[in-house]
Amino acid sequence: MTDYNNLINEALKARAASYSPYSGYKVGCALLTFDGEVFHGCNIENASFSETVCAERVALYKGVSQGKRSFEAIAIVGGKDEITDFAYPCGACRQSLSEFCDSELKIVLFDGTNTKIYTLGQLFPCAFEKDSIK
Ligand code: THU
Repeated sequence: MTDYNNLINEALKARAASYSPYSGYKVGCALLTFDGEVFHGCNIENASFSETVCAERVALYKGVSQGKRSFEAIAIVGGKDEITDFAYPCGACRQSLSEFCDSELKIVLFDGTNTKIYTLGQLFPCAFEKDSIK
């Protein structure tokens, strides 16, 4: 089983671009397509706080806007200074990911020492999705 160490390193690189002057909480992520492309995302905050966008949605929409429609894994890291805790994706990001990723998407979390790998189905069961509105 792959450990996604390279993808975690890409998420750490992506985090360097975080624009988070209000919370000071820097998030980076790296989204891997099935054909091996990687899209970086970071959180981008705004003085009008509700306009803030999460790192995961930045990466997802970068990929989708480049024509990508299926993804294998996303690595996510977050923290104020050093990374010392796992950064779980928020509910809105789980919903957004579920539009383009199936329940087997790997969600790779790194707390600076250890890695945890979940599937989207584990973190977001019973999603509201296309089939829900047929
Ligand atoms: N944030 C993310 O980038 N992803 C998440 O899934 C949760 C939260 C960001 C938004 C905000 O800039 C900061 O973390 C603190 O909430």
